[in-house]
Amino acid sequence: MGEAIRRVMITGAAGRIGQTLSRAFEGNYATLRLFDLKPAEKSHPDTEVVIGDLMDFDALVIALQDIDCVIHLAAIPEEWPFEELVEPNILGTYQLFEAARRAGVRRIIYASSIQAVGFHRQATGVSQSSRIRPSGFYGVTKAFGEALASLYADKYGLSVACLRIASFEPQPEDQRQLATWLSPQDCVKLFKACIDAAPFSFATVYGVSANARTVVKDAPPAEIDFRPSDDAERFLETVGFDPNLETAMSLFAGGGYCGEGFVGEFDRVK
Ligand SMILES: NC(=O)c1ccc[n+]([C@@H]2O[C@H](COP(=O)([O-])OP(=O)(O)OC[C@H]3O[C@@H](n4cnc5c(N)ncnc54)[C@H](O)[C@@H]3O)[C@@H](O)[C@H]2O)c1
Repeated sequence: MGEAIRRVMITGAAGRIGQTLSRAFEGNYATLRLFDLKPAEKSHPDTEVVIGDLMDFDALVIALQDIDCVIHLAAIPEEWPFEELVEPNILGTYQLFEAARRAGVRRIIYASSIQAVGFHRQATGVSQSSRIRPSGFYGVTKAFGEALASLYADKYGLSVACLRIASFEPQPEDQRQLATWLSPQDCVKLFKACIDAAPFSFATVYGVSANARTVVKDAPPAEIDFRPSDDAERFLETVGFDPNLETAMSLFAGGGYCGEGFVGEFDRVK
């Protein structure tokens, strides 16, 4: 057993997932440092708020001093022109990993996305061994982050979890999210399980609740004790389900992102 993780930093802490996590984690760690371009809200006197940019390497190294584990959320979280994704999602993720290595951080929990494997069919589902199959340029940037995570685990001995988060929402909003919903409560459980895990090298974990129609076909890896409890099925009546619907939203794990700019018939993607 290695020493327990007690000092945590969150990048992108002012965002939707970041604020959900920081509210849940405040007061529970010796250090909780919230890093973002914007001032993150805090409600505990010991929580540290750092305004900073992933593009400022020196600021990152300073912010990561005395941190055991960094949760890396800061990014553009949706499909966007590639040129605009490059800085925050690709260069920024490299800077975060490299600064963490230099600062002696032990664990990185990387917010990847189901969009890294988005072109798999919902009917077939996805698993930890699914081929990288991005739904768009955003998914490509997340696949890059996963490759970087693998490199930093193998070459530099960092402990890294890549979380393929699906649909983080207060409640499911469409038919696909009956399979892909990640509730706020399960999201907190997922990140906490990754922080609390005994030392491990590399893990891929899907960020999906315990949905009856889940798109995920295997259990989380043994190292990560993630036990989701919410099920999108209780929103079935509100959301509705049409078994004959044949849109990108109903066919692919990545949903509508797969349909944006799609050329030809969906049938050609098996
Ligand atoms: N919300 C989802 O359903 C979902 C699904 C899959 C993956 N993710 C991933 O989870 C992470 C968080 O998502 P979210 O929904 O909370 O997004 P969000 O947009 O609400 O939050 C992202 C935060 O990152 C910050 N940020 C952006 N560029 C930065 C930079 N250069 N330096 C410092 N901070 C910067 C923003 O200010 C923002 O507060 C993202 O990496 C996203 O790709 C989210």
